[in-house]
Amino acid sequence: MRKPLIAGNWKMNGSLSLIDRFGEACSETDLPLNVEVALMVPAPYLDAARRAFADTPMAWGGQTLHDQAAGAFTGEVSGPMLAEFEARYVLVGHSERRALFQEDDAAVLARVVAAVDVGLVPIVCVGETLEERDAGDTESVVLGQVDAVLAGLEARARERLVVAYEPVWAIGTGKTATPEQAQAVHASIRSHVNKTYSEALAEGLRLLYGGSMKAANATELLTQPDIDGGLIGGASLQVDDFLAICQSAG
Ligand code: 13P
Repeated sequence: MRKPLIAGNWKMNGSLSLIDRFGEACSETDLPLNVEVALMVPAPYLDAARRAFADTPMAWGGQTLHDQAAGAFTGEVSGPMLAEFEARYVLVGHSERRALFQEDDAAVLARVVAAVDVGLVPIVCVGETLEERDAGDTESVVLGQVDAVLAGLEARARERLVVAYEPVWAIGTGKTATPEQAQAVHASIRSHVNKTYSEALAEGLRLLYGGSMKAANATELLTQPDIDGGLIGGASLQVDDFLAICQSAG
C-alpha cells in the first residue's frame, strides 16, 4: 500500500508567525496516522519549521536545491544544507522553476541526483501547459518529463522518488483538473513506469496531484485509485484548509 502524502508548497509566501500557527495546530489536532504531511517552506524558514514541527507529525522540506553541494553559486541552496535542517523532502522541477528559472530536464535530473545523494526525498513535478493539452500532447510531455528523471537514475534511487502531476493550467488559477482528467494522467504514468522500469517501482510510486486543490475538492481527487496525495499551493497557506485536506486523505 502506498501511504498518502499531503505536501504544502508555500512558494515565496508565508511568515514566521504562520509557521508557529501551523506548529500549534499540529500539536493540538489529531492528524490521520495513515497520511504523511509536510510543508515545503522558503529556505529562511527551515530552522523555524524544524523547531515548530519537531514534536508533531508535520515534516518539512525545501522548494528547490542546487545540484552542487557547495560553491560559488550566490543565492542558491544545497542539498547538504537542507539535510542539516532535517528536511525530509525537496521539490524539484516545479513548473515555476522550469518556466521562470530555465530549469530543463537535465537540470531537474542533476538536482534529483543531488537530493538523493544526501538522503532527501525528491518530489519531482511534471505537467503540461494548456497549449500542450489542447494540442493532444499531455501524455508525451508528462511521460517525457518522468523519463528524463527515471532513465537517468539507478534502480535504488528511483524508489526514493515521489512524482507530482501538476498541470500548469491548473496552478494558481482556481481551475482544478477534474478527477477523471487527473486520474487518467496518473494511470498513464503508472502504466508507463510498469512497462518501462518495473512493476514493483510502479506499484510503490507515489503520485501526487497538484493544481488548485483545496478542502472542497480534495476528497473527489484523493479517492481516485492512482492519486496518492496532493501538492497544495494556495490552500497550504491557510491552517484550517490545509489540515482539512490532510483529514480528507486519511
Ligand atoms: P495551487 O494549489 O495554488 O494551484 O498551486 C499548486 C502548486 O503549484 C503546488 O506546487
